[in-house]
Amino acid sequence: MSAVLAPQATFVPLTLAHLDALMAIEQAAYVQPWSRGNFLDSINVGYECQALMAGEEMLGYFVVMMGVQEAHLLNITVAPKHQRQGWARLMLEAMALWARGRGARTLWLEVRVSNERARAVYAACGFHGTGVRRNYYPAAQGQREDAVVMCLTL
Ligand SMILES: CC(C)(COP(=O)(O)OP(=O)(O)OC[C@H]1O[C@@H](n2cnc3c(N)ncnc32)[C@H](O)[C@@H]1OP(=O)(O)O)[C@@H](O)C(=O)NCCC(=O)NCCS
Repeated sequence: MSAVLAPQATFVPLTLAHLDALMAIEQAAYVQPWSRGNFLDSINVGYECQALMAGEEMLGYFVVMMGVQEAHLLNITVAPKHQRQGWARLMLEAMALWARGRGARTLWLEVRVSNERARAVYAACGFHGTGVRRNYYPAAQGQREDAVVMCLTL
């Protein structure tokens, strides 16, 4: 995927050269961030990994895994100072088009029960909840947290 969206934003495939900027965003955005190794593995295994760039500045990024007639969103993040400006909506629309173009009929994701903001964004973008995975995520002090499973019909 590679597309110029507006004068100020472009999708580019994620490379090792992006990882310093990406990790700064990841660590600012999450209490339990992915590691650099998680992103390296995602790039190496061939997942769809895209950065949304405004010139040299990274606005956000996503990682999607393709399956048989379905796609699974593994990570979507917008840099804190660029949140609530429509970038997640734009990334979700782009990945839905990309996944549909590759034959996916459904886009799946998991989200922490406590992540009300992300859940609201997904709902605003047409996803609906289909169930709960108990104790799916690590949480503070050795605890676990449930995930809400959501899907979008493509
Ligand atoms: C969740 C996240 C990706 C959303 O990114 P964003 O760029 O701020 O979202 P958008 O601006 O595209 O919002 C899309 C829609 O969601 C809704 N929305 C956004 N923030 C919302 C909020 N705090 N409360 C309710 N609705 C909200 C709005 O309806 C918005 O539509 P609009 O632009 O027509 O108003 C971003 O907050 C983030 O990176 N959070 C930290 C990482 C994270 O939690 N990732 C998801 C893990 S599952």
